[in-house]
Amino acid sequence: MPVKTIEWVGGPDGTARLIDQTLLPTELKYLDVSDVETMWDAIKVLRIRGAPAIGIAAAFGLYLAVRNTRAGDYATFKTELDRAAQYLAGSRPTAVNLFWALKRIQDLVAAHADEPVPAVKQHILSEALRMIDEDNAVCRAIGEYGLELLASAGLPGQASGLTYRILTHCNAGGLATAQWGTALAPVYVAAERGIPVHVYADETRPLLQGARITAWELQQAGVPVTLITDNMAATVMAQGKIDAVIVGTDRVAANGDVANKIGTLGVAILAKEFNVPFYVAAPTSSIDMSLASGELIPIEERKPEEVTEGFGRRTAPPGVRVYNPAFDVTPNRYVTALITEKGVLRPPLGASLANLFKSATSG
Ligand code: MRU
Repeated sequence: MPVKTIEWVGGPDGTARLIDQTLLPTELKYLDVSDVETMWDAIKVLRIRGAPAIGIAAAFGLYLAVRNTRAGDYATFKTELDRAAQYLAGSRPTAVNLFWALKRIQDLVAAHADEPVPAVKQHILSEALRMIDEDNAVCRAIGEYGLELLASAGLPGQASGLTYRILTHCNAGGLATAQWGTALAPVYVAAERGIPVHVYADETRPLLQGARITAWELQQAGVPVTLITDNMAATVMAQGKIDAVIVGTDRVAANGDVANKIGTLGVAILAKEFNVPFYVAAPTSSIDMSLASGELIPIEERKPEEVTEGFGRRTAPPGVRVYNPAFDVTPNRYVTALITEKGVLRPPLGASLANLFKSATSG
């Protein structure tokens, strides 16, 4: 069973406990967060990362921001809450789950405007805890639908009675969510059922989430994993070693364009060339129907040092110009299917997404 990425320890005066992912794979260390500034920093420097985990961390961050406020009346309390939400929203721009979680807490607070402030604070903590339970259920559902999809896809590995050979990029595993992951959820469900599965993990330059985090968590869970550098993806596909690609996403636009870790676009293009299905695991909290297409998704740019002296060793000449976008956008034409907790969406993805959200709002 994958480890817990984030949890709440203690009662209302407790702390948010998270795995400091910057230390993996050499050290498994937990960080107890008891103020909003430390949570902002943890999100910014990727101690906690991955779209769904960022959302949950932000919800706890909001609670930490207001739990000790002396504001006695609703209006002052709400002003402080909104200010804290704006602050947390500035930590990272691409994963829509961050904004989704903040809005969810703000809406919840507005719905309890007539209650005393201490009761409203309690609602915030309960809602953040609910997000963990929901995330677990969502990821498990993605795991079930994803495995069904693999089983029905007639993959070459399966036909020869071997194993599902899945390539993934970055980390959309347990450590990117509360516990089960999105892209890796079908892998965990398969492993639980004794279905042989083998993951090829792209190393994922420049911060090596694939090497440091995906390879680590799969090893911990006893799932066979082979690490490759990003520039080996074409070769493993050309050699017929990959049955399907499954990646996560930070934001899906209304037309099905998908933002994910830088390098995902290249993998998608390769998958098309080599006739390998390219699946994106996408919880509905990562879908942003307010953006018509992927060009509108804000892409985070990170500091040059991540490229020139990642992990403490200089690998480029001082002063060299660097471009370091943390995400890219894969156009919908490369996406074979989106795996959501409500089922599998097939192209045309714009129409499938519209349908999903229409049925969600009409109950
Ligand atoms: O910069 P990161 O490590 O937060 O990027 C994470 C990813 O790109 C994940 O694939 C994405 O957030 C989906 S997580 C289920």
